Amino acid sequence: MKRRAFFSTSTAALAGSLIVPARSHALDLTQAPLPYAPEALEPHIDALTMNIHFGKHHAAYVKNLDGALKAAGIDKADPVALISDLKAVPEAQRTAIRNNGGGHVNHTWFWKWMAPAGSGPKGPEGKLGAAIQNTFTSIDDFKKIFGEAGAKRFGSGWAWLIATKDGRLKVTSTPNQDNPLMKGVVEDENLGTPILGLDVWEHAYYLKYQNKRPDYIAAWWNVVNWAEVTKQYEAAVKG
Ligand SMILES: [Fe+2]
Repeated sequence: MKRRAFFSTSTAALAGSLIVPARSHALDLTQAPLPYAPEALEPHIDALTMNIHFGKHHAAYVKNLDGALKAAGIDKADPVALISDLKAVPEAQRTAIRNNGGGHVNHTWFWKWMAPAGSGPKGPEGKLGAAIQNTFTSIDDFKKIFGEAGAKRFGSGWAWLIATKDGRLKVTSTPNQDNPLMKGVVEDENLGTPILGLDVWEHAYYLKYQNKRPDYIAAWWNVVNWAEVTKQYEAAVKG
């Protein structure tokens, strides 16, 4: 099984090829199940989109990351550590690991950043709520800025709310499957720990919303998992 190969504990197999796992964001190299049924986000995100997005697109990133790591001779790795320090991976596989490692990490978190509408808090609470108000004036202003970052991203990419190294909140955007943890890829001022991310690739919304990306973004707020976002913020600022 692939999973066994990745988690081989043979010292010889790992020598010189182990990318050290990093902190609380550590993930597996395998695809965890969706934390809810594919239809659970209806009517905001439709089941067919979820099935294809999770079962085809995310699965392909995992498969292709697997292939790139094998080609790179990396037997065991934390995907978050991998994408955070792409200079540490062989140059020949760097682009594949950037795209597919980013794709795997981004989607794994994206599924967790959503939950069925009405299943949790309606907005950020506690420390995160206060930090969003301090930074963006109000939750609505934050949503507007974040939504615009997603709507204006040309082509495929992501909108992000990140906690910067000094603990500030910032809204950013990346192309393709880039992630704000990617040192040397993302501008230094936009590096940080993702607290919330929105996939604005057409594969995330086209079946239901076609060219109306702003409608998808407006609907998506109904399924944001604020409990998870708050948890990730608190972990990020705690270091
Ligand atoms: Fe996606």
